[in-house]
Amino acid sequence: MDMKTISLRKATIKDRALAVDFDYNLDKVEHVELKRAEKITKAILGEECFIILADNSAVGFVIFDYRFFDLGWIELIIVEEEHRGKGIGGQAIDLICQQSKTNKVFTSTNSSNIQMQKALGKVGFSFAGKVNGLDEGDPELFYFKTTDNRKTKN
Ligand SMILES: CC(C)(COP(=O)(O)OP(=O)(O)OC[C@H]1O[C@@H](n2cnc3c(N)ncnc32)[C@H](O)[C@@H]1OP(=O)(O)O)[C@@H](O)C(=O)NCCC(=O)NCCS
Repeated sequence: MDMKTISLRKATIKDRALAVDFDYNLDKVEHVELKRAEKITKAILGEECFIILADNSAVGFVIFDYRFFDLGWIELIIVEEEHRGKGIGGQAIDLICQQSKTNKVFTSTNSSNIQMQKALGKVGFSFAGKVNGLDEGDPELFYFKTTDNRKTKN
């Protein structure tokens, strides 16, 4: 197995093209229809976007905020296709949880997204519930993880 060191670095506006590209390559239609470039730009300006580094090279990004009931919330995570399935996503999720200011971190994914569900399970997330009606025929599954972060960060 590949033993690269995974770390996160807060994205700056210079990373905009890179993050937009990762998202564009994931789903070109959704990228345009859902105005994802705008969403990514806002996240960068709001200091909510983090570049995932494997050793020193950028392999993806995470958008993390507190908009879900004021709790840590992973809005989006993308690992470039050629780097998936090597534990990078799981480690990046773990790192983002470590820097959360809240004791609980939530996220959600489609029922069809087995890769994300597996990555979450590996780093200690538990199933929180299912919401129908968002994507037709592909319910949204919510997950959460309890961290002890607040003990040390007030
Ligand atoms: C979801 C995502 C971030 C996970 O990142 P990753 O680096 O692949 O994650 P990991 O390697 O830590 O874990 C993925 C797990 O899924 C498994 N997996 C991969 N493809 C799979 C498939 N088609 N069916 C079943 N399991 C699969 C991997 O083997 C791995 O599990 P394992 O370590 O037990 O073998 C990444 O796949 C991705 O960017 N997907 C596209 C964007 C997306 O869907 N984001 C999530 C929604 S916000």
